[in-house]
Amino acid sequence: MKIKKAVFPVAGLGTRFLPATKASPKEMMPLVDKPLIQYVVEEAIDAGIEEVIMITGRGKNAIEDHFDISFELEHALKGKNNNKMLEEVQRISNLVDFWYIRQKEPLGLGHAILRTKDLIGNEPFAVLLGDDIIHSEVPTIKQLMNIHEKYNASVIAVEKVDKKDISGYGVIEPKKLDDRVYQIMDMVEKPSPQDAPSDLAIIGRYILTPEIFTALEKTVPDKSGEIQLTYGLRHLLKQQVVYAYQFEGKRYDAGNKLGFLKATVEFALRRPDLGDKFREYLKGLEL
Ligand code: UTP
Repeated sequence: MKIKKAVFPVAGLGTRFLPATKASPKEMMPLVDKPLIQYVVEEAIDAGIEEVIMITGRGKNAIEDHFDISFELEHALKGKNNNKMLEEVQRISNLVDFWYIRQKEPLGLGHAILRTKDLIGNEPFAVLLGDDIIHSEVPTIKQLMNIHEKYNASVIAVEKVDKKDISGYGVIEPKKLDDRVYQIMDMVEKPSPQDAPSDLAIIGRYILTPEIFTALEKTVPDKSGEIQLTYGLRHLLKQQVVYAYQFEGKRYDAGNKLGFLKATVEFALRRPDLGDKFREYLKGLEL
């Protein structure tokens, strides 16, 4: 079944970026000149997504404004004959249809996704997290859609991660089926390196079947009161086969400071208008 809807949970507190995220959303932090959230929305649109559903929370209004028409700004740019920028800001507001749902309290990623149950209905859908920015030839979510088309089931993006870093991720117990394709036998949230069932970590791209909603409804909140998506997926596993796909592309963990810095440098180096000058600057750095 063709995937038309994509969910973007953006209601998290972004505590790892405080104080920057005290009054402005983490998702609006830019890599060079484009907010993180726009990279992931464009990835979804490039993959053929027609409807974007954002799960927002308090203090996240800038995201809605970013994808909306900005009458004053457009008027000012017209007055200055700045047609290039005018086209760019108009392009952003014309990207696709946007829907917004509030998650009143940040009670976990699973809880956030459960908010979209009525809007999604009975069809498979995509989930993209703005923390993971992926540079790839084929949009990563499109790579998952291709696997979904073949197996008609939920598909989760995974990446090989160093054992020393594994405790920051959900980790799968895999059964290899094909090149880059695994059946998920089980999964564990943030295991210690010695308890991790593999080095394949779950990354923020998912295609989910609508049965995930009943699975999430059955999921008990963890110690901190959050409903974890990983635990919901474990319920889903009991009901139907779930696949993992080791995507092709370079991922940046823009949800932590070092990852965000690496992404900023590499995206700037890839930019035709900045790359050469920036490379020259970096080479000459003496610190
Ligand atoms: P994170 O675990 O990265 O949390 O959530 P966070 O709040 O964004 O960042 P830190 O850890 O406090 O620095 C993963 C994704 O799930 C969303 C976040 O917005 C992020 O995209 N999320 C998380 C929600 O939408 N609601 C929640 O209750 C929790």
